[in-house]
Amino acid sequence: CGIVGYVGPNNTVEALLSGLRRLEYRGYDSAGIAVLDEQGSVGVRKRSGKLARLEALLEQNPLQARGTGIGHTRWATHGGPTDENAHPHLGDDGKLALIHNGIVENFAELRAEAEAEGLELIGETDTEVVAVLLGREVARQGDLEAAFRTIVARLRGTFTLLAMHQDEPGKIVSARHHSPLVVGLGEGENFLGSDVAAFVSATRRAVAVDENNIAIITPDEVRITDFEGNSVEFSEYEVEWDADAADKGGWSSFMAKEITEQPEAVANTVRGRVSAGTVEIPELAALGAERLQTIDRVIIIGCGTASYAGMIGAYAIEQWARIPVEVQLSHEFRYRDPVLTDRTMVISVSQSGETMDTLMAVKYAIEHGAVTVSVCNSQSATIPRESDAAVYTHAGPEVAVASTKAFTAQITALYLIGLHLGRVRGTIDAQTQADAVQQFELLPEKLREAVESHDQIAQLAHWMADSRSVLFLGRHVGYPTALEGALKLKEIAYIHAEGFAAGELKHGPIALIDHGQPVFVLVPSPRTAPLMHSKVVSNIQEIRARGARVIAVVEKGDTSVLPYADDVIRLPLADVFFEPLLQVIPLQWFALELSTAKGLDVDQPRNLAKSVTVE
Ligand code: G6P
Repeated sequence: CGIVGYVGPNNTVEALLSGLRRLEYRGYDSAGIAVLDEQGSVGVRKRSGKLARLEALLEQNPLQARGTGIGHTRWATHGGPTDENAHPHLGDDGKLALIHNGIVENFAELRAEAEAEGLELIGETDTEVVAVLLGREVARQGDLEAAFRTIVARLRGTFTLLAMHQDEPGKIVSARHHSPLVVGLGEGENFLGSDVAAFVSATRRAVAVDENNIAIITPDEVRITDFEGNSVEFSEYEVEWDADAADKGGWSSFMAKEITEQPEAVANTVRGRVSAGTVEIPELAALGAERLQTIDRVIIIGCGTASYAGMIGAYAIEQWARIPVEVQLSHEFRYRDPVLTDRTMVISVSQSGETMDTLMAVKYAIEHGAVTVSVCNSQSATIPRESDAAVYTHAGPEVAVASTKAFTAQITALYLIGLHLGRVRGTIDAQTQADAVQQFELLPEKLREAVESHDQIAQLAHWMADSRSVLFLGRHVGYPTALEGALKLKEIAYIHAEGFAAGELKHGPIALIDHGQPVFVLVPSPRTAPLMHSKVVSNIQEIRARGARVIAVVEKGDTSVLPYADDVIRLPLADVFFEPLLQVIPLQWFALELSTAKGLDVDQPRNLAKSVTVE
């Protein structure tokens, strides 16, 4: 869910809506705001569905406010995505408004208590229960902050909470427990947000609120305390993201814009980490060479797209650093009682740095003594802050739910980690290191060329708009790339799609091949991987013989597949490890164009959210 809070002299409804527009990627099952209106009482507007529906409601039925307000965009957990279950929720006297991100686990017990006291509950959410209990507590104690501390101490689970009360205008109280919260510092106005996107158009000065802290904001003051009310010191940082970077520009969708931003995303991730043919990541160097030399096992964790970037990175890290590397889904990791020692490096991959499944896995790794490294795209997010080292991807804000530029930047960061480890451990020679660095230098130009595959892919998608199922095949690093291509199609075009390791096909999935079945095949370079290349060409023949419609993604000049392919997509030449970065681009375009052809919302596919902060 996305959360925003505003205190200050400006148009409060507009400040909240502007924050929510930028936060909508965090969930769009419903949206709502509460403000202290011109009469000084709490006014609420909320609607199921996307933010546009709330905006329409506000046009019909406006709210005027200058001063205090909170807003929410929801990804449903407790209770369906209805108007009633939308946030904010009010206390039973209507004086208090509350929004919540996370899950209150002891909500059944709290609900029973509220009902036993005769408090009226209309919806089904855990948040409403907290709102009525807090409303009652404020009435009892006559003080919002004190009442808030009393209630927060009783909650179990995960939460970010924001509350305001009509008897204390110009103030918002907020709490953070396993769920993100950031303060934005303005001039005579202050903000709260689930991330900096909530206020970046107004201020770039931010404060990350720590776990189990309470932040209280008024127009002129920000205070942070622990749950007992003891003051906590804090420091501010400057948000690097430029507000314009989170705008669509002239593009039809954020996803289209972000696909085209991949050359810069990769170049920015490399910048400052290579010099004179070697890779040196300052954040890893800070761990000490000795510590890196003793690592005997690497486990990469992530979810969704991030896990596929991890799978690709694993091939390279193992190759360059000669350390066994395995990849696990974050949400499976801790349940298998993994073997972890102080020689294990756990690398988490997460665009948002807030994915709860990954955060919990990182915490588990920390508790069990592993060295933790975070590959993350969001400055000062929870996962990099908790980890021993943070290797940021500098892809800039990614807004579309389906990840594109963060993926290529994650692969880049993982490769840099592999090269750094290889150098420190002496497992990679200077020439291999220099060759890889050169590949990175040439990459932005090649990525630009790959982005130009758009028109050809748009045509293909137009012909294939009726496809019910699409398969993707790849070998080695092409295999996770195939998985990512399939995921993109599932996410935004709602088409059944699967990725397979090309060699696995004959062990079962080939039975799926029927006349006209579209299959994308990622063909490795015949120059740098001749053996793999010839095997994949054989795989193409096998499926073609069974009627598949083959779309071959090849490097320019590879004519070997021409007799067997219905369509050929040609990409610039690159070494094997660098092929996924190029090959994924036509697959991203394909999903986008198919989604568009079906009239779907490319940036906000049904049922998903970009950052899932519940387990
Ligand atoms: C969600 C998104 C996916 C994303 C995954 C991991 O499920 O819908 O697109 O890949 O989370 O997100 P993260 O922020 O951890 O990279």
